[in-house]
Amino acid sequence: MILVLVGPPGAGKGTQAKLLCARFNIPQISTGDMLREAKRAGTLEKRYLDIMDSGGLLPDEAVISLIDRRTAEPDCASGFLLDGFPRTVPQAEALDQLLARGGKRIDAVLQLDVPRPLLEERLIHRRTDKRSGQIYHLVYNPPPPGAELEHRADDRPEAVARRLDAYEAMTAALLPFYEEKKLLHRVDGVGKPEEVTQRVLSVVSRPGSGGE
Ligand code: AP5
Repeated sequence: MILVLVGPPGAGKGTQAKLLCARFNIPQISTGDMLREAKRAGTLEKRYLDIMDSGGLLPDEAVISLIDRRTAEPDCASGFLLDGFPRTVPQAEALDQLLARGGKRIDAVLQLDVPRPLLEERLIHRRTDKRSGQIYHLVYNPPPPGAELEHRADDRPEAVARRLDAYEAMTAALLPFYEEKKLLHRVDGVGKPEEVTQRVLSVVSRPGSGGE
């Protein structure tokens, strides 16, 4: 199964990706996580680091080559879930081409809908455990004592606003691209994480959406 999760920053893509990947036993491929990992390892080019921290999007070719390499790995043979990729039409077209090379195609694109004021609130209070990658929220899902918490540089209020603006500009074209292909499913992302998961599952288990 090949699933794509789209949605604005803070919509819960990472949170839902972890739950869905455990359920379907497929790897989560998050360009954001891969870039943050490169940042930690000191291998991310300085110009990309500056773009990320300020809330902008990296050039298409930089993320496409990451996805090309990652999806060729053996654990992706029976499917995967993309989280945060594609974000632009050129990225979506490149994805179609690289999947076609292997005779594969996307089963469903799930768009998580959350209103902007709630997104801001989720991002500003997000913390991630550096060791496990587990995502927490200081109010809705508080971290346990002893967690080694990280506050993402791009979760500062000014970077959050820039990321939300970049998403709105980007989706103007990306969502119709998938709508035309009849792959796009809108899912209400407001509510408890488990409630949102149930909504996603009801979409991907429907005949014709790839989950059967
Ligand atoms: P990326 O890491 O992909 O960030 P993002 O898209 O901005 O998404 P987030 O990780 O911020 O949010 P999320 O939707 O995963 O929400 P989460 O589950 O954490 O990208 C980072 C940067 O990398 C980009 O800005 C760009 O620079 C670069 N990049 C990455 N991919 C790229 C690409 N394809 N092209 C170009 N550049 C790229 O949840 C958020 C918070 O809400 C958490 O605290 C969580 O606990 C809480 N929460 C989640 N669900 C719920 C719920 N149902 N109820 C209450 N709280 C909830």
